[in-house]
Amino acid sequence: MSNTPRATLQQNTRLIDFPSLGDVRGQLCALESVSAYVPFDIKRVYYMWDVGADQVRGKHAHYTLKQVLICLGGACEVVVDDGRQRQTVRLDSPLKGLLIDGFIWREMQHFTPGATLMVLANDHYDEADYVRNYDQFLQQANEG
Ligand code: TYD
Repeated sequence: MSNTPRATLQQNTRLIDFPSLGDVRGQLCALESVSAYVPFDIKRVYYMWDVGADQVRGKHAHYTLKQVLICLGGACEVVVDDGRQRQTVRLDSPLKGLLIDGFIWREMQHFTPGATLMVLANDHYDEADYVRNYDQFLQQANEG
């Protein structure tokens, strides 16, 4: 897509702390669409678990999809890359979300045993919204 907006890690990724509604009975967190915590309408939820410690998932960018990634149990790392710089974000609490809302390459890795990564997304699954080739991503991320 030639008119892909240029994205940066500073502008298009953000760690968000969620409020806990926990009390003596245990922990609780509630997230609503179009809020300070999830700044879009949630149309899809998916989650991954039983991911081996040596497996790397993701390895793609989205043209338009917005997502919040939350590690509900255990921990994992999310590598985010805007084509110029790369950062590794550790998700190790159900009260932490990583918002990605631009043309950012992401890889999920180093899942601890029992870790579950949940993803909230603003749209339905659409393979046409993916770039799965890193060289193509680099070219499109840096063009214009
Ligand atoms: P994949 O993109 O490899 O997952 P990840 O981002 O975790 O590495 O998806 C694996 C398969 O599941 C692939 O055939 C696409 C399919 N899939 C859906 O059908 N719906 C979805 O919402 C997702 C995320 C994947």
